Amino acid sequence: MDIIGNLISKAKANPQRIVLPEATEERTLRAADKALAEKMAEIILIGDPAEIHFMAGKLGLEHISQATIINPLDNPKAEEYAALLCELRKKKGMTMEQARELVKDPLYLGCMIIKTGGADGQLAGARNTTGNVLRPALQIIKTAPGITCVSGAMLLLTHERQYGRDGVVVMGDIAVMPEPDAAQLAQIAVCTARTAEAIAGFDNPRVAMLSFSTKGSASHERVDKVKEATRLAHEMAPELNIDGELQADAALVPSVGEKKAPGSPVAGHADVLIAPNLEVGNIGYKLVERLGGAQAIGPILQGIARPVNDLSRGCCVDDVYKMIAITSNQAIKAKELEK
Ligand code: ACO
Repeated sequence: MDIIGNLISKAKANPQRIVLPEATEERTLRAADKALAEKMAEIILIGDPAEIHFMAGKLGLEHISQATIINPLDNPKAEEYAALLCELRKKKGMTMEQARELVKDPLYLGCMIIKTGGADGQLAGARNTTGNVLRPALQIIKTAPGITCVSGAMLLLTHERQYGRDGVVVMGDIAVMPEPDAAQLAQIAVCTARTAEAIAGFDNPRVAMLSFSTKGSASHERVDKVKEATRLAHEMAPELNIDGELQADAALVPSVGEKKAPGSPVAGHADVLIAPNLEVGNIGYKLVERLGGAQAIGPILQGIARPVNDLSRGCCVDDVYKMIAITSNQAIKAKELEK
């Protein structure tokens, strides 16, 4: 299953306007050049134009001249954006002076460009933390219809083809909500299933709500939370195959699933794994990646009205390029859902 190849083809067929606010970051600039060369996306770079052109020349990047470059310190739309940001954050007491400063921050500026219809998605994080990438998206772009809890999914391309979907599993939340309550966990499950459909191309994803208990084998308030989240996720999306609470082996291994959760539509065949909290999700995916040799693609942030994605600060050029393709596909999907 060439998931990434499919995403790149779809992005090329319908190029989206993607903002890269860390334009003077070398890996980002190289990935932008590749995306422009292949006409995979229309790229909007935020940064000092002289510095960007200087870097592009030094690195031999011939396609950067096709990008739109916006200088955050000399932006003709700065006052318009500051007024809108001030209005959006009025209840939080934001002043015009504070808003004027914030729209010079490339991460905020990128979200303002998206909010005002000038771009379709944003990708950052090669230099900035997840929190810094997320905060302006949460404050400005806000959540998608029906969602109040933003979260993050990871595609895990493992060598264990007997598990998941031909070795591929999608795991959430691995990036955002430290301690979701049952209602938030239900949203994480539904959003991760939607990401599995839209990005991993899964038909009919099989979603396991993970726990240290399978179908009542242990009693604890943490198990109760996962049971309640499973019930709420069914209510939110009755058409989805969601089951819980399941231990990871009962979720993935057919013989264990049959024994511990007989009759479950998911146990033994899960391809979407929902962690009960961020510790489990974040540590779990990194163990699968490092000890299990899986390729981890993401985090793919989900539940924002327009895609804003985060990179690992240890990312390589290819990671940034793939995430431009993923962000483009999310933007295409968000527009389809709006129609
Ligand atoms: N979904 C929707 N809205 C949210 C969420 C969420 N998950 N979290 C916060 N918000 C809202 C808040 O309610 C607030 O709204 P308001 O200002 O309009 O009232 C707004 O977003 C901003 O919230 P803040 O309080 O300013 O930001 P906060 O300090 O809560 O930070 C953040 C939110 C950044 C997402 C925080 O939860 C965080 O840092 N999470 C962990 C991120 C992380 O470090 N992940 C691990 C690394 S990722 C990796 O390894 C792949």
